[in-house]
This record gives sequence, C-alpha cells and structure tokens, in this order.
Amino acid sequence: MLVSCGSGSRSDRASDDVAFSTLPAQFYEPGLGDLMSVLQLRHAKLWYAAEADNWPLVDFELHEIEETFERIARWHPEEHGMPVAPALEGYMRAAHEALETSAANEDRAGFEAAFDLFTAGCNACHRAMKHGFIVIQRPTREPVTNQRWALQVDG
Ligand code: HEC
Repeated sequence: MLVSCGSGSRSDRASDDVAFSTLPAQFYEPGLGDLMSVLQLRHAKLWYAAEADNWPLVDFELHEIEETFERIARWHPEEHGMPVAPALEGYMRAAHEALETSAANEDRAGFEAAFDLFTAGCNACHRAMKHGFIVIQRPTREPVTNQRWALQVDG
C-alpha cells in the first residue's frame, strides 16, 4: 500500500497506514507530495501562459494554484511541526497577489519579477520545512506539448 512519504517518522507512517486501511475504498486523501507535484506543473504552465501573453490562461492557472493551496492546507494542516496555512500565507500570498496584478495589467516584465518572487517563496518554505533539497526554478522547457499556450479564442 502506498502511504505519503517524507512526512514524519517511521512510526507516524505506520499509524498513517492503519488509518488509511480503515478508509472506505472510494476515499482519496492526496499526499502532500502529490499536491506539490500538481503545483509544480501549474507553476510551469503559468510561466508559458504568460510568455505567450495568454492572460486568461494566466488567470486560470493562478486560480487553480490558489485552490491547490487551499487543498494543501485542508489535507495537511501541519507539516514538520509547522502549521501549513500560515506558512502558505507568509511565503506565497504577496507574490501571488503580485502575479494577479501583473496579469490584470497584462504586464509581462511585472509578471516575470513576481514569478521569481513566487518561486523564491516555494523554496523558502521548502527550506523552512526541511526540504531545502527540493529547489524550484523558472522552467526551461515546456512541461507538456499537448496544450497550446497562445490565446486562440477569448473566452
Ligand atoms: C507550506 C510550505 C511549502 C510551500 C509554500 C511550497 N512547498 Fe513544495 N513542498 C513542501 C513540503 C513539506 C514538501 C515535501 C512533501 C512530502 O513530504 O511529501 C514539498 C515538496 C515539493 C515537491 C516534490 C514533490 C515530488 O513528489 O517530487 C515539489 C516539486 C514542490 N514541493 C513544488 C513546489 C512549488 C512549485 C511551490 C511553489 C509554487 C511549492 N512547492 C511551495 C512545502 C512547501
């Protein structure tokens, strides 16, 4: 059986395992690493959307990222002895708002500066939560090839 890894000691994981086995089969609890992988994909899509001046897509990804943050706080309220919601707020909020402002103004240079700040927030939280070996950067290659970044139709 798969259980979330990287969080807590071995005994914590063993008790997670017991709790997991008592859940109904249709119940799915996303692991923190799973939610982070979704965040990683959206972080990259966000970049390519802005580079293509597809501001509606930038808006959409920012909204999805916000929802992912909410799910992270809901499913993983505490990690490594730190409350997650205030950490998300502290490390990510200002940069997320700066990204929203740049999208509203369709301001690519402003977006790029805010994106770097946002990315620095990801890494600061990783360091604070003893995962400083996970380092996020500007993407250097498109994360997927089956989606067009350029805006085709508005709406
Ligand atoms: C609240 C603190 C916090 C913030 C903010 C945060 N992370 Fe994480 N991240 C973590 C922790 C803790 C882990 C380790 C998860 C685990 O133990 O499974 C992690 C793991 C990851 C991983 C590894 C997942 C894997 O399975 O390989 C990636 C990728 C990642 N984060 C991306 C990001 C990105 C991108 C951002 C910013 C948009 C971000 N994170 C913001 C705390 C954070």
